[in-house]
Amino acid sequence: MEKSDSCSSFVKRDLDCIWHPFTQAQIAKPPTAIVKGKGAYLYSDTGDVYLDGISSWWVNLHGHAHPYIAEKIAKQAQELEHVIFAGYTHPQAILLAERLLSLFSGHFSHVFYSDNGSTSVEVALKMAFQVKGGKKRLLSFQNAYHGDTFGAMASAGKSHYNQPFWPYLFEVHSIPPPIFGKEDESFKAFERVIATGEVGAFIFEPLIQGSGGMIPHCGQSLNRMIQRCKKEGVITIADEVMTGFGRTGSLFASKSFEDYPDLMCLSKGITGGFLPLGATLVKKYIFESFLSQNPARAFLHGHSYTANPLACAAANANLDLLLQPECHEARKRIELEHLQFQKQWKNHPKLIRCDVVGTILAIEYKTENASYHHPLKERLIDFFKEEGVLIRPLGNVLYLIPPYCIRPEELQKIYSLIIITLEKWQ
Ligand SMILES: Cc1ncc(COP(=O)(O)O)c(C=O)c1O
Repeated sequence: MEKSDSCSSFVKRDLDCIWHPFTQAQIAKPPTAIVKGKGAYLYSDTGDVYLDGISSWWVNLHGHAHPYIAEKIAKQAQELEHVIFAGYTHPQAILLAERLLSLFSGHFSHVFYSDNGSTSVEVALKMAFQVKGGKKRLLSFQNAYHGDTFGAMASAGKSHYNQPFWPYLFEVHSIPPPIFGKEDESFKAFERVIATGEVGAFIFEPLIQGSGGMIPHCGQSLNRMIQRCKKEGVITIADEVMTGFGRTGSLFASKSFEDYPDLMCLSKGITGGFLPLGATLVKKYIFESFLSQNPARAFLHGHSYTANPLACAAANANLDLLLQPECHEARKRIELEHLQFQKQWKNHPKLIRCDVVGTILAIEYKTENASYHHPLKERLIDFFKEEGVLIRPLGNVLYLIPPYCIRPEELQKIYSLIIITLEKWQ
């Protein structure tokens, strides 16, 4: 990243010492220093204001620096900032686990905490592999994304996200997801793989694949697969790291299935975007299969910051806000606004698709190729940023996943910018 005279002092200092994620430092523009957040807005050190159209990598739910969550964290910080979570526990973690489990009416029996989405997936995979005794393979969807740690990378199969690491990834069975119109092809592939008897666990992003391009698929077909796995004794793992906490409309995407999975991975929205936290929800039979008089048969996994009390306090405060009827109404309203936009623009000649899944809107531009690094991405980012909106397209796919506090006129502002790209851009 080239330093220019126009860089603020924060940015100059950043460029001297920080390596940013998913960033090619040699050609990337300097980052923007954000010093304040409020509601759906972020404020830079140089006085620019950005409407956050993607909840800062899909984590923020109720707006930036929400005073209620901030207050609960501050209170917790004065009582207990952290305690080792092996051999010790604390009230915020207990309360949060009870509340998370109650959202699934007793389907899951235990919560295993970790630090982020990838680790919530690692935990689920390691549990599934240990239960299956190391003899079976994992099944996953092509085009999936489950995180950047090794197990999470491997579970998604080979993709542009993990190419440098292909030689180090364990093999998985990979089938096409049941995208609309291709459900049969997907189910046949599923049946073929299940028939081999090699599958021990099945991991999926329910209803919509996020980083793979915000591509929705058929919930009924996935439901059939989950049912089939149940019959075959295949462990099902729903990765709700992105879809959880209301993004798809209902609180969790898995609520649309006949039965919940055996393991569920949660993170991102879990603390309303305040602090990193992962949680893996576990069915009783999985928890019980680790019980033994032999300590070596325990689940030998843990992170220093497991169940950090500040993160758990944030998550409890987040749940307080999320479970209020106003939040449900806000999500509904966002969905309706997206649907209005979709109705009007989905057939635009410049678009391949315009999808709405709850509070998520995704449009795919017609381009010669559809790579993640497509130059349209940077053009869109720059244009929207210039107009005061933060987005981060996936190649030629522009999506919105806004905080639930976003107001109708703010959404309209973003739609109007999209319309400019459709109607005015060459
Ligand atoms: C479905 C899904 N799973 C896992 C992850 C990894 O989460 P994290 O970035 O917190 O490690 C992501 C991140 O985008 C995700 O979308």
